[in-house]
Amino acid sequence: MEKIFLFFLLIFHGGFSAVTRVHIHVNEKKRWGEAQMYCRQNYNDLSTISSTEENLRLQTMLGAIDNHAWIGMYRNGTVLDQFIWSDGDLKTNFYQWKSEQPDGKSRSQHCVEIDRTGWADYGCDEVLPFFCYLTLDRDNKTWEENSAVITSLVRNIM
Ligand SMILES: *[C@@H]1O[C@H](CO)[C@@H](O)[C@H](O)[C@H]1NC(C)=O
Ligand SMILES: *[C@@H]1O[C@H](CO)[C@@H](O)[C@H](O)[C@H]1NC(C)=O
Repeated sequence: MEKIFLFFLLIFHGGFSAVTRVHIHVNEKKRWGEAQMYCRQNYNDLSTISSTEENLRLQTMLGAIDNHAWIGMYRNGTVLDQFIWSDGDLKTNFYQWKSEQPDGKSRSQHCVEIDRTGWADYGCDEVLPFFCYLTLDRDNKTWEENSAVITSLVRNIM
């Protein structure tokens, strides 16, 4: 319930026209790869984050200070120092690493988690809640069409 309330609050607070991605906090622990599959089946993908404002929105949804969750960022398997987004976004050049992160631990941590203080690389086999996103088409859809998407989304969550 609390999650859904926040969901609406965040959309309307930002003003609808500014929202292109809606983020959903899935409070079910999964490995990064399983979380990715879940997001691709039910929404668009694991969350991509492209600004400080968007990052804050996710951090707010995390609730308690020590809660962690997967986001869509992971290491390029061939160029290990390069971090890329699960949805293939190559334009977003935004990072919110915590200090001393990514620490790599001999670059064996290939996936990225978020908490209230920033991002860190983490072992993909750890199980965490995660963030999925859903895109709202602000150019070509009316408010009513996007409302319908949001309504069905909330129904799915409930
Ligand atoms: C990883 O990096 C290489 C070299 O830059 C690139 O060719 C490849 O497409 C990247 N992999 C992914 C999944 O983006
Ligand atoms: C909106 O529709 C036009 C015309 O069909 C298309 O060219 C454009 O890519 C669409 N924009 C988005 C954001 O989907």
